[in-house]
Amino acid sequence: MTTTEIAELPLLEPGSPPAELDRLRELGWAARSERGLEVLRHDECHAVLKHPLLRTRWSERLDAFELREGPVREMWDRMLISSQGPARKRLRRPLSRLLSPRTSESLRDVSREIAEDLADEIADGDTADLLEAVAWQLPPRMYCHLVSADKRFAATAAALSDGIISPILTVDLSRQQESVDALIEARRFAAEHIRARSAELGDDFTSRLIREQEKSGLSDAELVDEAVTLMAASIDNTVHQIAIAFGVLLEERSRWESLLREPGGVEAAVDETIRLRPRFGSILRVPIEDVDLFGVHVPAGSQVHVNVRAAQRDPRAFGDATDTFVADRQSTGQHVMFGNGQYSCIGRFLARIEVQECVSVFLERFPDLRLDGDWTVRHTPVVSEVTSLKVRLR
Ligand code: HEM
Repeated sequence: MTTTEIAELPLLEPGSPPAELDRLRELGWAARSERGLEVLRHDECHAVLKHPLLRTRWSERLDAFELREGPVREMWDRMLISSQGPARKRLRRPLSRLLSPRTSESLRDVSREIAEDLADEIADGDTADLLEAVAWQLPPRMYCHLVSADKRFAATAAALSDGIISPILTVDLSRQQESVDALIEARRFAAEHIRARSAELGDDFTSRLIREQEKSGLSDAELVDEAVTLMAASIDNTVHQIAIAFGVLLEERSRWESLLREPGGVEAAVDETIRLRPRFGSILRVPIEDVDLFGVHVPAGSQVHVNVRAAQRDPRAFGDATDTFVADRQSTGQHVMFGNGQYSCIGRFLARIEVQECVSVFLERFPDLRLDGDWTVRHTPVVSEVTSLKVRLR
């Protein structure tokens, strides 16, 4: 069988619209771009995500962000997101246990209560900023609930999560110092919080991590890292996916109205918003040795980008009209956005529940909800960030 080199594949230009992704995906399962190989089809994306020789490589993101050395780089290099092999298993297990499907499901009522509180807080006005007053509020309040932190810490937790993660994922070098300061401040909070909870262990996630510390062989510094990982990973991404869900459901009123008639359809409709407009546009993998991927030679150390935006519109997995929103889409496809295998998103069950409950509560409380002007999103190669989402409540 002949092997194709990456350079022989069709070129995907940066920022290409969905129609171009569709065109290239129909030419073949992969394309090349200025960053490396782009995997465009659903099944091949999942195979790449689970491939034993393809690794996540946070260090590449830190290098691109010009955080190549120093104490903050060392902190990152020790964390779950950077680790591999047995160290990865040891660091991942305690967090995975905290966020099992069952525990996540048990947090559905909490998600709902937080969403109800947020609805109460905006209920007196005729208009609202759904991005600031709702999407930016729910995940940090959930985080405070998870770790049993004072609710007043939510705003700081949101700013820290965004400050740590967003500048790196969007490669915004003007925010480098903010990212460094946020990581240091998050560690300071986590260390202090762990000290406080150690004196009075409860059933919250911090207490459970403290109890697990010895069993999992976590050092004191690693325990702090786990708590920081939870804060950084649980807030920023979920904020944007909540905002995206409302944006997609409201940009055509018929979508919102069909859910008003069939509230049981929220789960499927939320999944469809995630499919069509994923927060993550791509996920990075790097082969540790030369590999042959479906007939393409991929050299060790090259960048392989699982192109979520293309894969989640693959008709082979998601059926007809994949550029269209179909609230009750019946398909065999699995989201690519949360990854798969040993690096997959630990919070994927909880994240979906938070979005679902928020939408569900707002359907009940504000049936006349509609966009007040356009909602806006900034797309970067790795993530999409909602920048404005104003609504009329009645
Ligand atoms: C809609 C919201 C979310 C999105 C879009 C998202 C997306 C992702 C993605 C793309 C990854 C990397 C997957 C890979 O490389 O294969 C990841 C990892 C991770 N996520 Fe999420 N996530 C979300 C919510 C959450 C929540 C709510 C939590 C925790 C409560 C969480 C915790 C984590 C952790 C700990 C990792 C690191 C896993 C590892 O390196 O082993 N995420 N997430």
